[in-house]
Amino acid sequence: MKTIIIKDLDHFNEATRIIQEGGLVAAPTETVYGLCANALNEVAVGNIFKAKGRPNDNPLIVHIADLKMLYELVTEVSPMAQKLIDNFWPGPLTLIFKAKPIVPQAVTAGLATVAIRFPSHPLMQKLIKDSGLPIAAPSANTSGKPSPTNAQRVIEDMDGKIDCIIDGASSEIGVESTIVDTTGEIATVLRPGGITYEMLEAILGEITIDPAITNKLKEGEQPKAPGMKYTHYSPNAEVFIVRNSSAYVGDNQHNMFGDLDNLKKHFSTFIQAAHEKDKKVGILATDETKHLFEADLVLSLGTENDLLTVSSHLFEALRTFDDQGIDIVYSLAFPKEGIGAAIMNRLEKSAGYHFINI
Ligand code: TXA
Ligand code: MG
Repeated sequence: MKTIIIKDLDHFNEATRIIQEGGLVAAPTETVYGLCANALNEVAVGNIFKAKGRPNDNPLIVHIADLKMLYELVTEVSPMAQKLIDNFWPGPLTLIFKAKPIVPQAVTAGLATVAIRFPSHPLMQKLIKDSGLPIAAPSANTSGKPSPTNAQRVIEDMDGKIDCIIDGASSEIGVESTIVDTTGEIATVLRPGGITYEMLEAILGEITIDPAITNKLKEGEQPKAPGMKYTHYSPNAEVFIVRNSSAYVGDNQHNMFGDLDNLKKHFSTFIQAAHEKDKKVGILATDETKHLFEADLVLSLGTENDLLTVSSHLFEALRTFDDQGIDIVYSLAFPKEGIGAAIMNRLEKSAGYHFINI
């Protein structure tokens, strides 16, 4: 299949037509790039799973661009859900509702619920509005790889497999949306993202957090968001997260990275040991700490003063290590506050929960 790449609005109608005719279009959103199809077309949705190599039991998020579309897809919007909609839509928040029968089984993976998001990105909104259709879209990566935050990474994974790629700017947030289940009494966060725990608590008072986020699941345990059980965000390199004891009081990371001399000393021991085994070493650091390390590739994710700069560069950094043939990555551990919770959730998964405590 020839994949067309659209860079300017003059040719945007082509993308709209492809969606209406049941094809696949990758488009930018404020979180990550999405792989879009008409959510009401079972065949088109099935093709998303094929292009990504995604397991069929992992349901998709349906994207909308007005609230009328929401009421066509869900049976009930609780007062708690309404508060979240009023405060955070459009934006990086996905809400789980009870689904109407119109939502295809291919989208919900047979669940009675459906995930809905109203994105803020103008190009994604335009695709939904111009086509007049709700759009099912997972992240536009091959299943298991870090999500793409720019068109170049989508091209690497999807060229020749989908009809069209809309080339917009890099995604601002860089990690996928927060997912909140609104079908119970209390809002339950199923995946942390750009709408933080603190922001949700400020609006709702009480929230709960699905245990799949905070603990690695034990044998036989199921997360409420089926996708959270799969290996994710995995670069080819082995990733380790280094926790500096001086940054913690108990489990609480009260200081950004702790004593930097200690950090520098241990990192240099790890790097040396890896080099003795002929491994190429990468480091995930920040603008403020990158000068401490000497490795084959030291990447700064952004500044400690604004963790949104860190989230926006995380997936691109993981993919860059693969481009450079890095074998082992050592990463700093970020405090799980604000968007730090989402950053650490993705990092922990990419590291397969491998920590080194120093
Ligand atoms: O930011 C985002 O959410 C991006 C952009 C493209 O919008 N999309 C995205 O989709 O991250 P995906 O498919 O990579 O992740 C969707 C997650 C999966 O973990 C899936 O299991 C969960 O949403 N999910 C979908 N429907 C659900 C449902 N009815 N109940 C619980 N979890 C659901
Ligand atoms: Mg994904």
